[in-house]
Amino acid sequence: MTDTTPAARLRAEASVENVGAFPQGFRWGLATAAYQIEGAAHEGGRGPSIWDTFSHTPGLSHHGDTGDIACDHYHRWEADLDLLASLGVTDYRLSVSWSRLQPGGRGDLNPAAVAFYRELLAGLSARGIRPLVTLYHWDLPQPLEEEGGWPVRDTAYRFAEFATKTVEALGDLASDWVTLNEPWCSSFLGYGRGAHAPGRQDYRAAIHAAHHLNLAHGLAVAGIRAARPGASVGITNIVTDIVPATDAPDDAAAALRLDASSNRIFLDPVYLGEYSAAVWDTLGERGLAEVVLDGDLAIIAAPTDFAGVNHYQRVIASHDESQPFDVLEVPAEPATTSFGWSVIPASLTSVLTRVSREFTPLPIYVTENGASYNDYVDPNGDVVDTERVDYLRGYLSAAGDAIEAGVDLRGYYAWSFLDNFEWAEGYSKRFGLVWVDYRTQERIPKLSAHWYRRLIEDHRAAVAHFAA
Ligand code: FCB
Repeated sequence: MTDTTPAARLRAEASVENVGAFPQGFRWGLATAAYQIEGAAHEGGRGPSIWDTFSHTPGLSHHGDTGDIACDHYHRWEADLDLLASLGVTDYRLSVSWSRLQPGGRGDLNPAAVAFYRELLAGLSARGIRPLVTLYHWDLPQPLEEEGGWPVRDTAYRFAEFATKTVEALGDLASDWVTLNEPWCSSFLGYGRGAHAPGRQDYRAAIHAAHHLNLAHGLAVAGIRAARPGASVGITNIVTDIVPATDAPDDAAAALRLDASSNRIFLDPVYLGEYSAAVWDTLGERGLAEVVLDGDLAIIAAPTDFAGVNHYQRVIASHDESQPFDVLEVPAEPATTSFGWSVIPASLTSVLTRVSREFTPLPIYVTENGASYNDYVDPNGDVVDTERVDYLRGYLSAAGDAIEAGVDLRGYYAWSFLDNFEWAEGYSKRFGLVWVDYRTQERIPKLSAHWYRRLIEDHRAAVAHFAA
């Protein structure tokens, strides 16, 4: 009889054929974000963030789901770190909650929150796992939104103050820092489309927010360098692979506008020190010219130590005057995840080579990549997520292709360690390599978690082989 258990399937599976292309010391990680896993929304002196307000507003999040409890990681962090260590990862990307550390958005840090994160980071160190800490993964303290939020310039200064104080308080336990996660989502989804917190629908405000997020990053880099000269600092941007729907000039121009308003508005100023003509043409009159002050671009272009790239999608762009910036975007096929996002591994090769050739020679980390599927616990108690195994195999092999093409890729953090609160989609989308039963808080490593551990072992063996 054929053995169909997950362990047997795994033995039969190759991990990643070109695993030998990944350099020695490659960082194999998993990623999470504070609001998506911590819960304990009202404990330890935490104040409300825009995501508490958004998720508690009827009709905005799927089924009214909130992050009040999430994965209860705030109380279960020790067991979660044991689980993380058992998966064999070398690295872990987490975020700290601004509204936990500085509930009012200004002033002294909250000692209880500092103590929590110090214990968490010490716990990682005790397990030999290196942290990569994101300072802002979308949880703006609500009081700052009430003062105008990211469309207001002062928020950039508030963030720089928060980032500096946090690195002062935690920087002996973590040396690698990401200033912002995907400012595209914070600005365009939060203030333009309104699909994310704070749920405003005003593209002019979104463009103002985008520039102030860029400025916040640059100011924070300066503050972090002053606080901890040895720290390694970068920003994480989502980089989308954009393809025009047809060869028609209108669609080609639409693809350039979409690239300007999703990729270039963030990559240009940080890595090239300017907003390119494509960005000015698309966004200048729509609000950008109103907020860029003399000296801003020099602040934003402060040298960083690495480039963080999150990648999820290839989208097809076509000219459509009913859409923002006159661009209709649809996911490229096949779009087989439960989110309807594309599954095209070559897109990852393409965005990595593009970032390294057009924007920066810095080392690159894929700080997020992953997929949601309709996972379930089967009658044996296993979660056999073969779709995610195939996804990871494809995308990691595509990352290997990028390395072979000369990209200085130093690490990969799969999204996500745990199933978690997927923003406006609540608990309906599962991205974890570990299953979470939200009622009992039981965790079950999925087949993909076992596969990932085996890949990391295969890489270790390949490196040892080449070194011998
Ligand atoms: C990214 C976010 C992350 C998660 C994944 C699926 O845009 O940074 O928090 O929601 O998408």
